[in-house]
Amino acid sequence: MKTSITELFGIEKPIVLPGMSWISVPELVAAVSNAGGLGILATGPLSKEQTRQAIRKIRELTDKPFGIGVTLMMPGAKENAKVALEEQVPVINFSLGKGDWIVKAAKQYGGKVIATVVTQKHALAAQKSGVDALLVTGHEAAAHGGEVTSLCLVPSITDIVNIPVIAAGGFADGRGLIAALSLGAGGVAMGSRFATSKESPLHQHVKNTVVEKDVEQTIYSKNFDGLYARVMKTPMAEKATRRPMNFVMATVKSFKAAKMVDMPLWKLLLGLLSQFDKIKMLSLFGAATEKLEAATIHGDLEHGVQFIGQSQGVIRNIESVQTLMDNIMVEAKDIASRNRHYFEQ
Ligand SMILES: Cc1cc2nc3c(=O)[nH]c(=O)nc-3n(C[C@H](O)[C@H](O)[C@H](O)COP(=O)(O)O)c2cc1C
Repeated sequence: MKTSITELFGIEKPIVLPGMSWISVPELVAAVSNAGGLGILATGPLSKEQTRQAIRKIRELTDKPFGIGVTLMMPGAKENAKVALEEQVPVINFSLGKGDWIVKAAKQYGGKVIATVVTQKHALAAQKSGVDALLVTGHEAAAHGGEVTSLCLVPSITDIVNIPVIAAGGFADGRGLIAALSLGAGGVAMGSRFATSKESPLHQHVKNTVVEKDVEQTIYSKNFDGLYARVMKTPMAEKATRRPMNFVMATVKSFKAAKMVDMPLWKLLLGLLSQFDKIKMLSLFGAATEKLEAATIHGDLEHGVQFIGQSQGVIRNIESVQTLMDNIMVEAKDIASRNRHYFEQ
């Protein structure tokens, strides 16, 4: 299949694995790239050195294009982006921050840059900064999707930009792929679906729970990590999102996140002082780490909280990445020919 996204990145299938902390690890990234899509490494929980090692590991596992993701407002993210530029990673996907300097540096070695956006305003600003593509994340998405559903957000953005768009949020099968293409996107990014694949390191208990849960069993709240985020509906998630975390407790816990990425504490403090308005957000973000780790890594849904999208309600099996992607392409082709048939009657 040829779309603006397959052409831009030199891949066979317009399907992207987005960066998901503890999930989008070198093995899963390579599996998606080897199956013809674009795997993107999550660097949120990684230090500079771990990021470099992970990039090298991916290169051992695949010779296909791949990317790395950086959430720029998080401690250590800029350092990780610099490592990716040094290693001349083919694709860099940034979110929550200004990535002009990444665009400039990546262009020098022919690297491509994707900006993740959730509004028209940010889409236009990212396009102006010279990014090659946008990843547009709608309301249905796991974690930090926008306020507007993919059905309305994606076309509202494809209407006003002239660079390729990857649609994310609610896409999990061939039906979703055809829908995204119909909305003007050149491909889809699937988080929840790939997190529930055989090769994903997501704990088996969580994978089984995703298969059992329905579309309405998620919560979208600002009280979990400070930004609107979608998590699996469990008694712990309901408790964790009832009210914002106590600020002092959140700040203490945020140091844990800084330690995880080997960031010196003075640097975190300096960052907090220079960006006073972001203190609360950053603190809550760090505080969320503990609960996310408990669920995602240890499968503890009683004490942990799991990022998951509404597409959990259409995920009904756990398949290998290759089977999953092959099936998506077959299903999409069937739907496209059936749709053509409607007009021929
Ligand atoms: C288990 C899990 C962990 C995630 N972790 C992150 C993360 O660390 N950073 C991030 O920007 N997005 C994260 N996401 C969101 C995805 O990058 C993506 O935007 C989202 O999954 C797309 O929506 P979908 O789940 O409906 O496919 C995560 C998603 C899941 C399912």
